Amino acid sequence: MIYKYISKVADIFPPEILHKFFLSSLKLEIIKKKQKFENLEFNLFGKKFSNPLGLAAGFDKNAEAIDGLFGLGFGYLELGTVTPMPQSGNLKPRVFKIPEFEAVIQRLGFNNLGVESFLRNIKIFKKKKEEGLVGVNIGKNKNSEDYISDYVLLFELLSPFADYVAVNISSPNTPGLRDLQKKGNVEKLISKLIKKNKYSTPLFIKISPDILDSDLKNICELSLKEKLVTGLIISNTTTSRKKLYSQQIKNSWKINEFGGLSGPPLKDTSNKIIKKAYKLTTGKIVIIGVGGISSGKDAFEKISMGCSLIQLYTALIYQGPNIISKILCELSFLLEENGIKNIQDLVGKKIEL
Ligand code: FNR
Repeated sequence: MIYKYISKVADIFPPEILHKFFLSSLKLEIIKKKQKFENLEFNLFGKKFSNPLGLAAGFDKNAEAIDGLFGLGFGYLELGTVTPMPQSGNLKPRVFKIPEFEAVIQRLGFNNLGVESFLRNIKIFKKKKEEGLVGVNIGKNKNSEDYISDYVLLFELLSPFADYVAVNISSPNTPGLRDLQKKGNVEKLISKLIKKNKYSTPLFIKISPDILDSDLKNICELSLKEKLVTGLIISNTTTSRKKLYSQQIKNSWKINEFGGLSGPPLKDTSNKIIKKAYKLTTGKIVIIGVGGISSGKDAFEKISMGCSLIQLYTALIYQGPNIISKILCELSFLLEENGIKNIQDLVGKKIEL
């Protein structure tokens, strides 16, 4: 509640300045919200998760606030997207808040400090041998002429230090990136990465909610065939604005800004793809569900649809750092209320709330 009031006042500043401030304050590691929920603990792909809720990619692109982020109570973090070379991203302004929907439209374009700095930060974290699972989300540089070399380089450098690697081929803000989801392209990329997977690091493919049915089917078949693809992250942001036309809003010009839409208006689209993917893969791969989670009920729904892990980003912007413990408390309570002993028993059970 207090955060909502503060964030309204703070809205006089551009969203990217607020984000920098948020990251800097996390680096101070003041907030310690880590709580134990026995019914949310489980093991998956050989890792012990304290809960299924992770940070989605894009919040900590340079792996600079790892300890502070774990302090908020996340079960794991997905860091990045990191590219081989530093890049500044698209011209500003490039992040637009749509408060009426608690949504965001952004076209950052993989602004990050590059893999060298990222690697330094993640090595420091791993050296401390502190608990905490970190996934690494990788992407190609905008001007790269050989996208495969970009992904291979990142994979080789980062996979020894990552609990999983997410191959991002779904951001709408890097021209041509989403074409890598197409038949032919995706197989070529994934088979190259699999050959470089010396440490058998779990590999995930992050897909778009706007993906064609035929491409989704092909990626699902590929994931089932390639034992070294652990699963799919569903989904990235959408370029569709359909959900925003239902309501009159202030500053309606923002709706037509180019970029990816996230937050509650993404939820249904993302859930539809999750349901399709779960059906196509019959529960044989791990699905990480992301898109519009802002309550324990949203989390419960995604897991019940077939996600073993979930993530959020936009809810953190609108509801602040307490949202993580709030969702976990609600989720833990919902399990008890529905007579489910452990979160793993909910995956794919299709229970309606
Ligand atoms: C993102 N997202 C994102 N995804 C990704 O794979 N790499 C990235 O660099 C980013 N960057 C990014 C920046 C900002 C400002 C936002 C809001 C989002 C997408 C994100 O990881 C997630 O897939 C979507 O935002 C959907 O989840 P939420 O935000 O609805 O919980």
